[in-house]
Amino acid sequence: MLGPVLLAAARSGRVRRLVSSAPVTRPVVDRYVPGEALPDVLAAVRDLTGRGLEVTLDHLGEDITDPAEARRNRDAYLALCEGLAGLGLGERAEMSVKLSAFGQALPGGHDLALANVTPVVEAAAEAGTTVTLDMEDHTTVDSTLAVLREMRRRFPQTGAVLQSYLFRTEDDCRALAGEGSRVRLVKGAYREPASVAYQRRAEVDRAFVRCLGVLMTGQGYPMIGSHDPRLIAIGEELARRAGRKPGAYEFQMLYGIRVGEQERLAAEGHRVRTYVPYGTDWYGYFMRRLAERPANVAFFLRSLAGR
Ligand code: FDA
Repeated sequence: MLGPVLLAAARSGRVRRLVSSAPVTRPVVDRYVPGEALPDVLAAVRDLTGRGLEVTLDHLGEDITDPAEARRNRDAYLALCEGLAGLGLGERAEMSVKLSAFGQALPGGHDLALANVTPVVEAAAEAGTTVTLDMEDHTTVDSTLAVLREMRRRFPQTGAVLQSYLFRTEDDCRALAGEGSRVRLVKGAYREPASVAYQRRAEVDRAFVRCLGVLMTGQGYPMIGSHDPRLIAIGEELARRAGRKPGAYEFQMLYGIRVGEQERLAAEGHRVRTYVPYGTDWYGYFMRRLAERPANVAFFLRSLAGR
């Protein structure tokens, strides 16, 4: 019940101002976001990679309202590329981008996002790494996949995210299961209508397994984006049945969530990548994390009451 309310709040300007300015919010946010500035995130990258994990970095800044912000976000990613080049980690440290941060939702947004993301993908390649395009609400999927096709012409290693809650995703998995393709499969984090998406957890999970089956038996590189112990075990089993060795697929989890499990899988020889968001614009990301787990809200409210 609480999840949809929080997802609606994630897009409300009024609640954004309220939550963002409450001083008690910060310690709860810290669990999910290791810092606001580039040096903070580079320190987190050194720490995580030192512990045998790989990373994908997200400069927070979704749902912007003017083209100047889109250019600022592009420049932040270009600075991140430079920082990563200095660390020399190659694809062990890649980047995740949300096209809404590059102007996708503005008038003429598809072309604007394409123009802003292109130099980032080019700079990533020069730095010896790559970019994965995050997936946002269902109205953006066609545009994001069109940008992906365009990027993959020159940079075939560019990755995409597909969300198992959408009815269309099994077909999208088939279309993206070819050689060289990199797909992160997730359940999906936005509030979607029943006309386009499964509403029940069990249906979303079953769709996840079907989609993962398509990706694992395909020629591409599947990235399992989930903390769900059942789906992680099924992922291992599907990989084994498809004859994939660790390294021919990977697990991905979010910074601050099931950290022990991330380290356990890595210690067993799996490739595990932590998704690390950073920046000042953490509100939308933070609210989606609260929505995923009601216990987080209780924790947040307890810290409010404790003041
Ligand atoms: P589920 O929600 O069932 O969680 C399983 C268990 O993990 C929980 O029981 C709990 O123990 C733990 N857990 C999960 N979420 C938690 C939280 N917020 N706080 C504390 N514990 C938590 N979505 C999207 O729409 N577009 C995208 O581009 C991405 N990108 C992305 C990248 C990566 C690397 C991951 C892991 C996830 C995404 N997501 C995403 C989010 C995804 O769609 C989904 O909302 C979350 O991963 C939660 O679903 P789980 O599969 O983890 O299962």
